[in-house]
Amino acid sequence: MNKIPVAILGATGSVGQKFIELLTNHPWFEISELAASERSAGKKYNDATKWVMATNLDSSIAEMEILECKPNLKSKLVFSALDSSVAGEIETDFANNGYFVISNSRNHRFDKDVPLLIPEVNYEHLELIKNKKGAIVTNPNCSTIGMVLALKPLYDAFGIETVNVVTMQAVSGGGYPGVPSLDILGNVVPYISGEEEKMITEPLKILGSFDGNEIKNATIKISAQCNRVPVIDGHLETVQVKFKNKPAKQDIIDIWQKFTSMPQKLSLPSAPENPIHYFSENYLPQPRLNSALGNGMTVSVGRLRECEIFDYKFVVLSHNTIRGAAGGTILAAELLKAQGYLNGIL
Ligand SMILES: NC(=O)c1ccc[n+]([C@@H]2O[C@H](COP(=O)([O-])OP(=O)(O)OC[C@H]3O[C@@H](n4cnc5c(N)ncnc54)[C@H](OP(=O)(O)O)[C@@H]3O)[C@@H](O)[C@H]2O)c1
Repeated sequence: MNKIPVAILGATGSVGQKFIELLTNHPWFEISELAASERSAGKKYNDATKWVMATNLDSSIAEMEILECKPNLKSKLVFSALDSSVAGEIETDFANNGYFVISNSRNHRFDKDVPLLIPEVNYEHLELIKNKKGAIVTNPNCSTIGMVLALKPLYDAFGIETVNVVTMQAVSGGGYPGVPSLDILGNVVPYISGEEEKMITEPLKILGSFDGNEIKNATIKISAQCNRVPVIDGHLETVQVKFKNKPAKQDIIDIWQKFTSMPQKLSLPSAPENPIHYFSENYLPQPRLNSALGNGMTVSVGRLRECEIFDYKFVVLSHNTIRGAAGGTILAAELLKAQGYLNGIL
C-alpha cells in the first residue's frame, strides 16, 4: 500500500520530536511536511531544534525545511503538537480548509463536534465527524489517558460513583526544556497549571455516551491533585474508586487482564496487544522500569487493594509522551484510517 503523507504542526517541540521518532518507519504514514512557528520556518529541521530523543534523527528529516502552520500543506492528515497558546486558531483554520487534524492541545477538547478520543475507550465518539470533509480529533490530557484507560472496563462492568486521584507527573510532560532543574532536582512541585481541572472534566466526556447526535457526559465525581516529580518519562497516579456495585478484587484483575478493544480487533500498527497490564508485585509499576511496556502504549496498574474510605485503591502508570501524547494520537489516526473516516482525503 502507498503510505499516507502526514504533516506535523509543532514539529520542533517535545511532542513533535516524539511524533517524528514514532512515525519514522511507520507502516502506513510517511512524514512529508514539518511546520512550526515563524521563528523556525525557513530553517532546516536540524538547525531549528535541539533533538532530545534517544534514537538518531533520520538524515532525510534533519534536512527538511520547516514550513509555517498555514493550511496550504499538501498532506491532508495533520498531527498537531502546537503550544496551546496558538493551537486553537491554527487547528480550526486547517479543519475549515479540509484537513483532518489530530491534536494534543487542550483548545478544542470540549467542542461539541470534536471527539476527545482514547481509541480503546470511546471509538464510537468518532461518529461525531462522520461524513465531514475536514475535522479535529483531540487526544486527552496525558494524566487523564492513563487513569481513564484503567477505569473504562471497570466503569462498564460495575459503574463508578467517585474517584480520587493523586498524580506524580514526569518532567517531560511540561515540554522542553520544561521546569527549571533547580526547581525540580531533589524536589516535588505540588502544582501544574490547569492539570487538575483537566483530570476532573475530561473523563466525563470520554466516558460519556454517544446518542447518535451528541455526547451525554458521564456523572462521576472526581477529585484530582497533581504534582510534578523528578522523573523523566512516565506519569504515576494513585487512584481511589467508589463503585456503584462493589466487585470482588479478583473480578477487577480479571477484567483488566482480559480488556481489549477496537484497536486490537483491527490489529492497528500502534495498538498494544494488552492495553492494560496488571502487576501483582507490590513494588510495581515504576516509571523507570515499566513506562516503555507495549512500546509505551500499555498502561500499567498494580497495588490493587481495599480502601479504608473508598472501595478500592490502586496505582496507574502511563508513558506521557507516547500513550499520553504522540503514540495515542498516531493510534487515533490509524483508527480513523481503518474505519474509513479518511477516505475523502486519500
Ligand atoms: N509533553 C507532553 O507530555 C504532552 C502530553 C500531552 C499533551 N501535550 C500538549 O502538546 C502540545 C505540545 O507540547 P510540547 O510539550 O511538545 O510543547 P513544546 O515543546 O513547547 O513545543 C511547542 C511547539 O509549538 C510551536 N509553536 C509555538 N508558538 C508557535 C506559533 N506562534 N506558531 C506556530 N507554532 C508555534 C513550537 O515551535 P518553535 O520551536 O518554532 O517555537 C513547538 O514546535 C501542548 O499543547 C501540550 O499541552 C504535551
